[in-house]
Amino acid sequence: MTPILLDTDPGIDDAMAIFYAMADPAVELVGMTTVFGNVYTKDGTRNALALAEMAGQAIPVAEGAQVPLVQPPNKPSDFVHGAHGLGEATVPDPKASGDPRPAHQFIADTLAERPGEIVLVAVGPLTNLALALQHHPEITKTVKHVVVMGGAVRTAGNVTKHAEANIWNDPHAADAVFAADWPVTLVGLDVTETIRCTPEDFAPMRETSPKCGALMNEAAAFYFGFHIQQHGVNACFLHDPAAVIAALEPSLFDTDAVPLSVICEGEEIGNTVEGMATDRRAVNVCIAADIDAVKTRFLRHLRSGVLP
Ligand code: RIB
Ligand code: CA
Repeated sequence: MTPILLDTDPGIDDAMAIFYAMADPAVELVGMTTVFGNVYTKDGTRNALALAEMAGQAIPVAEGAQVPLVQPPNKPSDFVHGAHGLGEATVPDPKASGDPRPAHQFIADTLAERPGEIVLVAVGPLTNLALALQHHPEITKTVKHVVVMGGAVRTAGNVTKHAEANIWNDPHAADAVFAADWPVTLVGLDVTETIRCTPEDFAPMRETSPKCGALMNEAAAFYFGFHIQQHGVNACFLHDPAAVIAALEPSLFDTDAVPLSVICEGEEIGNTVEGMATDRRAVNVCIAADIDAVKTRFLRHLRSGVLP
């Protein structure tokens, strides 16, 4: 099993990644930390707690940053993920409350409990990771591996032509993450926009997991609507689930090791640029994926009936 700590802004593809992480027996989901981005952080915390409860799993959730490190916060992307992050789906109020520690403390403590074992998978803006680096620099040594869903290195962005959403929402934090001396794999739009699922792919989950599958289909309907309107395809990109699968099975991804920097101002703000800061540790940037294998693994576990 791979112990994973998931930093997330749930969000619909985040919810897919969370359900997937709870369904794949190769994953030990040791905790979740929440951040702004797709939603306000409070909505993200509520969604993370509610999704874990719906799946019948007691996963600790620690709430994180409400605003970026430096710039003022952008508006949540409600046109992609809905007013509260799960499209038009609603989830019951979670019974559990979040961990009392702020996300950056929870990250540092969790990594310290199992040094060298835990993979930190970040699928939202990187503010919590940057704060953890600031307050607890030892995490570069206690983490096993960092996998980031974000960036657009050799392809266009999805917020501007330069910037992908997670990086655009906190470019200063992303630059700090790429500047640190720790092992990072970037799962960016270069690969996630090649991995797509259709409504037909999700439909069987209604039968195999009546509760979680129904919610997944309802939330995904809103996400499909965005993709039809924005990209003209009745399919959705598997951004966040791809990052979790990259943490589990890196051999499904081809990577180039290049130092990365992030533009933090001007027209190119949020652009992930390779090769500029040559004194930085190289980031393993995913440049291609075994699309069928990633999609097959995702659907196999989400349709397995493991989730209620
Ligand atoms: O650009 C896609 C990323 O931004 C995904 O993580 C999505 O959930 C949003 O956070
Ligand atoms: Ca996300």
